[in-house]
This record gives sequence, structure tokens and C-alpha cells, in this order.
Amino acid sequence: MASTTLICDTEPWKDLKAHVEDLKNTHLRDLMNDKERCQSMMVEFDGMLLDYSRQRATLETMDKLYKLAEAASLKQQINRMYSGEHINSTENRSVLHVALRAPRDAVIYSDGKNVVPDVWNVLDKIKAFSEKVRSGSWVGATGKPLKDVIAIGIGGSFLGPLFVHTALQTDPEAAEFAKERQLRFLANVDPIDVARNIAGLNPETTLVVVVSKTFTTAETMLNARTLREWISSALGPSAVAKHMVAVSTNLTLVEKFGIDTNNAFAFWDWVGGRYSVCSAVGVLPLSLQYGFPIIEKFLKGASSIDQHFCSAPFENNIPVLLGLLSVWNVSFLGYPARAILPYSQALEKFAPHIQQVSMESNGKGVSIDGVPLPYEAGEIDFGEPGTNGQHSFYQLIHQGRVIPCDFIGIVKSQQPVYLKGEVVSNHDELMSNFFAQPDALAYGKTAEQLLKENVPQHLIPHKTFSGNRPSLSLLLPSLNAYNIGQLLASYEHRIAVEGFVWGINSFDQWGVELGKSLATQVRKQLHASRTKGDPVEGFNFSTTTLLTRYLEASSDIPADPPTILPRI
Ligand code: F6P
Repeated sequence: MASTTLICDTEPWKDLKAHVEDLKNTHLRDLMNDKERCQSMMVEFDGMLLDYSRQRATLETMDKLYKLAEAASLKQQINRMYSGEHINSTENRSVLHVALRAPRDAVIYSDGKNVVPDVWNVLDKIKAFSEKVRSGSWVGATGKPLKDVIAIGIGGSFLGPLFVHTALQTDPEAAEFAKERQLRFLANVDPIDVARNIAGLNPETTLVVVVSKTFTTAETMLNARTLREWISSALGPSAVAKHMVAVSTNLTLVEKFGIDTNNAFAFWDWVGGRYSVCSAVGVLPLSLQYGFPIIEKFLKGASSIDQHFCSAPFENNIPVLLGLLSVWNVSFLGYPARAILPYSQALEKFAPHIQQVSMESNGKGVSIDGVPLPYEAGEIDFGEPGTNGQHSFYQLIHQGRVIPCDFIGIVKSQQPVYLKGEVVSNHDELMSNFFAQPDALAYGKTAEQLLKENVPQHLIPHKTFSGNRPSLSLLLPSLNAYNIGQLLASYEHRIAVEGFVWGINSFDQWGVELGKSLATQVRKQLHASRTKGDPVEGFNFSTTTLLTRYLEASSDIPADPPTILPRI
């Protein structure tokens, strides 16, 4: 497309806008009666089954969406990503998280260089290091094995690894390799998070992994200095070399911080923070906890989807279908949000991770060429595991606002429970809800049905469900490291598809900068007021009042306090 041409100016976009009118009087109840339609809306790949028959879409809608994809040059944009072009144009970088999980013999270029050997050098280094730590051949300053790991990082240097860790914790194979070990994550700069992380841990047996792409993120660096103090005050400053390692693209700053670069694990500027879980960002802490072979399976699952995404025709391409349907829901049906509802407690951190991947990627107001968008891009993502969500926000989803839902189900539970005499197993009980909810949303319940059930007249409006609420279902055979990798990559690529169609840059994040720089101004003021008694100046009335109140109410804090670490 020419630089200032927006997707909304193309014929397929206009055609889809008009098509919304065609569907206005079509209820999902009717669409679900068309078996042929439903059959063609089921797609399977490598054990994953996607059923999108409960989307408010016909086969004609899908054809129109494929035409939209063509108008957005979706295929070419995917190819540009895989071939290492600088599609993150505002940062002049390629976007190659697919290289992080590519097989050893793959060839993927960035700036004329095959990056796959570099990726495997780091993976081999992680494998060797994690084996040394796990086997006890790498010991702490007092000679004790390091059985606990605290990974310090925030945003993309935290949420993905936390999601994968939470999902693996109850997988029997992974859990077997994690016996007697703990992995914790310190993200928030709130000292309470420090307190929670160090509670019950002994510095003598703890390894701290500082994870930061830039090694400048304020929260991460203060937390890193805090845990450096925790280690050196207990074991002496020389213990830091044995108890702290780093993951970063900025090895100069790693060295300046005092971490031996031999114990630093690199990644590259072509890995976006929120797409970095398959780099050392995730692979190092997760390998320390579960062993490298388990994490290699996770990478293989992601790689399987990478190959599918770049080669399958759009009609059978799970990430492409997911992405196009999201665009349909947001831009044409006008539903701004999406609920991510995994029917698996192990996936409790999936929605928080996808929130960052999706909302930091696609929450943009201008096109990739800087043209203000006359349509909304991005969507509001939230979610909770089923069935917990059912007892929380599903009321709104059933009778309030329309929120397209992703139902994610698992065929075989990681932890099956059967009770003799119960009607079904515990997992079947969970899955009964997984199968029931999408139909409740799609079909609803009419006043006529309620009348037949002798529901009193005055309750009929309250008990009526309009239905016609879209969802899709994703069924995975099990939830092991491989499947977790598949799920991750499917969503990463879905979000890229949405961004490619909306014509935005899904790989930068300038929107996080303004708040950071204003915090710098406040930090300076707090320092000046506490140490020299300077009055609050240069802020608006509201902030001045709040800051003054905060300072006055905490004036008992000494100007130059001694080091204090949490004690719980
Ligand atoms: O929140 C903004 C952000 O830049 C994210 O994109 C990134 O994942 C996070 O901060 C952490 O950055 P770093 O890994 O450089 O510490």
C-alpha cells in the first residue's frame, strides 16, 4: 500500500462495513443450524482444534476477510517478518522472535547475518549453566548448592516466563524435574514484592537472575540493587559473582552493575520485550527450574506453530484466522474487548501475559507511517480461568455487554482426579462448563422458553438471555511444555496479524515513555524535598497538593536513612 493509504480506504474494508448490515438480523442460533458452515469453521493443526463456528460470521464473511487480508498484503507482511526486514520501523529493527525457537539447522537472516547459530550458542550456554547449577557443581559463596532462583524483571521480562512457569508447575513431567527447587519472580518496584520474594529464602542457596533487555528499567535496576544488597550484606560483596547472573542485550551495563559477563546470557534487539519469553529471558530461569530438555520441548511447540503460520493457507491457518476474526469483532462489529478464558488453572497467568503482548503491541493511534487512524486499533484483553470467571464477570458477558470470548480447553488434565461414586471426574466437571458456556452465549434464552417453564411474568425480562454473543473454542490435547509453546506462538502471531491488517507497528511501545519521564521529575522532587526540605514546585495544583500531603505525612522518614531490607 502507498504510505498514506489506510486499510479503511480499501474496497474490502468498505465491503465488510456494508456486510455488517447483512448479518444484523441473523442470530447465532440460526448460524449454528447450518452444519456445513460449522464444519468448515473447524480447523485442526498438530493436535490443536479451533472451532470458530460461534463467531458472528458466515462463509461469505470469511471470504471478505480473506480479501481484506489480501488488501493489507498480509502474506507479504508475514514474509517480511520472517525474512528479517526492519518491520519495526520506528526503532529500525527486525522482528525475529521466530528465530528464537528455530531448529539448529534453520537459516534466518537479520541484517545479512544468519542469527540461528547465535541463538543456539546462547541456548547451549544456558543448557550447560543450568545443568551445573541443578547438579550442584555450581555452588554459592558458602559452598551450598543453589536450589532457589529469583528472576528480577518486569513487563516482557516477567509476564511470559511467569505464564510458562505457572503452566508447567503442575505438569507431572516438568514437576518431576523441579523437585526441591523454587522459582520466584520479582517484578514490582513496590518493596512489598521484595519482601514476598525473599521471605523464607536463604541468600546462601539463592541465585538471582536479573532480566532486562535494556538493563536500564528503573524498577528492575532498583530491585537488582536491593537483592545485591540482600546477598552482600549476608555473604559479603564477593558473593555477588556466585549468586547473581544476568539476561540482557546490554552487556556493557551488565558489567558495570558488577555481574561477570561470563555469567550473562545475551539476546538481541530484534527480540521485542513482550516477545522474548523464548529467548534467555524465559529459557534461563525456566531451565534452572525444570531443566533444559523440558524447555526445549516448549520451544519446539512454538516452532511448530511458527512453521504453520508462515506456510498454511489462510483458511487453515490458526493464527491468521484468530487475527482476522479479532479484526472483524473490533473494527466491524464494534466489540472493543476480548475475554481469554482458559479452562485450566495452570493457565491462570496466560491472560495477564497476553494482555501485555496484545495491548502493548496493538494499542496504537497512528498507522505505521504516522497517519492518525480513523478507526480504533487494539482491543481490551482480560481473563480468568474458568470456572472462576463464571462466578465473577460472566454475568456481564451473558446479559450485559457483548464481549467475544476465547474458550481454551484441555482434553487430558495435568492432574486427573476421580472420586468413586461421583457422576463425572473432576476434569469432566470442569469441561462440562467449557462446553456449555459457548452455547449459553450463542443461543441465549428467549421469553417464550421462559414462559413454557412457568417463570413468573415479572421475572421474564431478568431471566431472558439475548444470546448471539460470539466466542471461539480452542481445544488442546494436553498441557505439556510442547502445547504451552503452541498456545503462546498462536497468540503472538494472532496479534501480529491484527496489527498487519490495521496497518500499525505492533512492535514498538512509545506509549509507555511519557509516564516514565514524568516519574523522573517526581523522583527528583521527592529527593530534594526529603534531603533539603525544598517545597514542591513545577507541578499542577492537584499533583502539588497530593505530593505535599504525602511528604508531610511521612516527614518522620530521616533525610539519609541507613539501609533497611524487609524482614518477614
Ligand atoms: O513496559 C515497557 C517495557 O519497555 C516493555 O516493553 C518491556 O518488556 C519492559 O518495559 C521491560 O524492559 P526491560 O526488559 O528492558 O527491562
